[in-house]
Amino acid sequence: MTAGKKTKRVLVLYYSQSGQLKKVLDKFVAPLEKCGGIECDCRAIKPVISYPYPWSFYSFFNIFPEAVYLDGCEVEALDIKGEYDLIILGYTVWFLSPSIPITGFLKSAEAKRLFAGKPVVTVIACRDMWLIAQEKMKSLLENTGAHLRDNVVLTDQGKSLYTFITTPRWMLTGKKNAFWFFPKAGVADEVIAAASRFGKRLCSALRNDDEQKNGPMLRNMGAVNVNGKLIATERIAHRSFLIWSRLIKKAGPPNSRRRNVIITIYAIFLLTLVLTVVPLNMIIRKIIYPLRKQAIDETITYYEQPSGK
Ligand SMILES: Cc1cc2nc3c(=O)[nH]c(=O)nc-3n(C[C@H](O)[C@H](O)[C@H](O)COP(=O)(O)O)c2cc1C
Repeated sequence: MTAGKKTKRVLVLYYSQSGQLKKVLDKFVAPLEKCGGIECDCRAIKPVISYPYPWSFYSFFNIFPEAVYLDGCEVEALDIKGEYDLIILGYTVWFLSPSIPITGFLKSAEAKRLFAGKPVVTVIACRDMWLIAQEKMKSLLENTGAHLRDNVVLTDQGKSLYTFITTPRWMLTGKKNAFWFFPKAGVADEVIAAASRFGKRLCSALRNDDEQKNGPMLRNMGAVNVNGKLIATERIAHRSFLIWSRLIKKAGPPNSRRRNVIITIYAIFLLTLVLTVVPLNMIIRKIIYPLRKQAIDETITYYEQPSGK
């Protein structure tokens, strides 16, 4: 770094249950830590009441309405002093929404103080449905006064149809291994390792003071890959999530018998939907894709922002 330039401070925040997102951030941040003149401060967000992992069936669905409606939860204070030049925020997706601890943190007074006016890079590691969650993230960040500069997304290996089984199996049992014809659960090791390229680019961006300008710093790096076939599915699913969440909330508080009854009905409804409407929807989308290609391509470009493909 040029003599006389002040050390830049980067804050890395995350909430990870199995440690996968933490692994992604470790690879992402490693080149930044080696980059002269840059200081990284890596902190985990900790909910006051921890969430289980692996999850039981009912604990998994009990948090569904609170996740969808962005209620958040109480989180431990980070007690961070001073300011940062850049914030890297790692989050996972829970029911098409940022995970509850991340939402809870972003709604806290501490987040507002740390994020106001700061450039933020979001890093997501999830199954493969993150579009609506990132829309919600944009509004949470806007409420803190932060500027979203880039978004990097790593998704689980294997086709959507397979991860629909492998990811919940992992969440409910803790097992990630490949079985039958299903691939291993989670993001592929080589994809995680390749996340270091973003840290390298951020190192040169910070040296050029690019974080003080407008616009993305991680363009043309394959930061995101929007699956056009999942856009409609996510939008429809989210609409139904809003309705069911309201019903489940009305039924009773978390873990009450009444809430669990509605959750059981919802789970049966969801399974029926996945086995009938989802495949039918996929076939219809495939047929009408050529007719709607332009509109779908425009929507893909929208969701790819700010970093692009
Ligand atoms: C309650 C719950 C809901 C989830 N919902 C989604 C989802 O809507 N979309 C998605 O792509 N992944 C979803 N996932 C997977 C997570 O985004 C993430 O990949 C997984 O929790 C592993 O992250 P971690 O172990 O680093 O915390 C969900 C996971 C949990 C526990």
